Amino acid sequence: MHICVIGCGYVGLVTGVCFAEMGNRVTCVDSNAERIGLLSEGISPIFEPGIEALLRSNITGGRLSVSSALADAVQGADVVFIAVGTPSEPDGAADTSQIMAVAQALSVHLSLPTLIVCKSTAPVGTACRVQSILDQNPGGLQHRVVSNPEFLKEGDALNDFMRPDRIIVGTEDSEARRVMHQLYTPFVRNHDRIMFMSRRAAEMTKYAANAFLATKISFMNEMAAFCDEFAVDVEQVRKGIGADQRIGHHFIYAGCGYGGSCFPKDLRALLHMAESCDTRLPILEAVETRNQEQKAWLFRSLQQSLGQDLRGLTVAIWGLAFKPGTDDIRDAPSRVLIDSLLAAGVRIQAFDPIAADNIARCYGAPVANGQLQLGEDPYAVLRNADALVLVTEWKQFRQPDFALMRTLMRRPLLLDGRNQYDPQVVERAGFAYKGVGRSISRTQLAPLRRAG
Ligand SMILES: NC(=O)c1ccc[n+]([C@@H]2O[C@H](COP(=O)([O-])OP(=O)(O)OC[C@H]3O[C@@H](n4cnc5c(N)ncnc54)[C@H](O)[C@@H]3O)[C@@H](O)[C@H]2O)c1
Repeated sequence: MHICVIGCGYVGLVTGVCFAEMGNRVTCVDSNAERIGLLSEGISPIFEPGIEALLRSNITGGRLSVSSALADAVQGADVVFIAVGTPSEPDGAADTSQIMAVAQALSVHLSLPTLIVCKSTAPVGTACRVQSILDQNPGGLQHRVVSNPEFLKEGDALNDFMRPDRIIVGTEDSEARRVMHQLYTPFVRNHDRIMFMSRRAAEMTKYAANAFLATKISFMNEMAAFCDEFAVDVEQVRKGIGADQRIGHHFIYAGCGYGGSCFPKDLRALLHMAESCDTRLPILEAVETRNQEQKAWLFRSLQQSLGQDLRGLTVAIWGLAFKPGTDDIRDAPSRVLIDSLLAAGVRIQAFDPIAADNIARCYGAPVANGQLQLGEDPYAVLRNADALVLVTEWKQFRQPDFALMRTLMRRPLLLDGRNQYDPQVVERAGFAYKGVGRSISRTQLAPLRRAG
């Protein structure tokens, strides 16, 4: 099939590359000329393990091309995917203006009846709105619009796309159903995991899935705070409940809050959708509130350990991306911590294997007038630090040289925002350790506090 994918971000690029890999002819379109420039040289503008190799082999194989000219790129396409952003508006609503702008452009430029697939996460009713825009095309063409939300995880996106748990397709049109089935069959060869439903149900399914996963995380973070009250290690509780197959081990890790480009904005969008129909979602309101509190936990814990006034201290941060395996820093817990530390007059020395450039762009260079230093080596950023905060659990942080760390740091405080470490191992190395929902011995903290 000839496929056109509009939007070359985390979702659009993976979609385009994977369809090309299955032998389709794909054109990826983006309005960002810089992105298209990089892509045309076989360079991925986003970090995603394995994507660049697939991008290059499919360009070389003649199955994948990139373009910034939507009008030309959509000519002759059998299927057009819309994979543009749906960021939060200030009131939390999903901003669907990028989708609607693409729909307008398609209604003008498509010269044959075409299947349009909404892949962006968008509120219930969005695909119907796109259909209405396309129905007003000047040539009176009968385009079909379906909803096909994406469930990939950044960091493992190619695997998720190639071997999906399920493919949700919202359409009640038999021809659209036939084409979507044909398109996705190569990805579900061992058993059919394509689920057809109404467009509105498909849109709601995406939000419900993210809301449920976010709920699991916030639930565990709430339990972690509760465990602290009773001097219980939440890690033991996690393993204990995860063994129950009805609960399972996924998404029950206590930590410093969820971030990224999906959960926070999708939760906000759901809450806004509820408000707009005069209803409430009290469970999800609590999930959101807990997550905000959780992101503030790192800074609060530093204050509890080192004193209220942190001015003049140096804090090292390991990990800036919202999770390992990506360079995405949208809504990342690291940013909440950095903002609080900068405001408190703390000097920051941070390291991330991939996301440091995005943080540098976000805070400006030289980063925050030198108050935020981005290092290229995890140990170098520990020099003279008064605390180390682990924010993103990249694999390379799992088994560090604690003895070396101890010699580099001014004060031996390790705040483990992802419960990565065994407290006993860390304490034996001479550190005071604090994890999420894991109580810390007060005797060890006492000498860390500044006089007064
Ligand atoms: N990132 C994820 O992990 C993920 C997972 C599932 C679903 N989603 C959803 O998929 C959608 C896309 O997310 P993303 O993370 O890929 O976004 P992104 O911001 O990384 O990429 C969006 C791209 O669309 C381009 N674009 C915007 N308007 C355009 C236009 N008119 N013409 C051509 N290109 C245009 C932008 O330049 C950008 O490159 C969102 O709705 C998101 O919620 C994201």
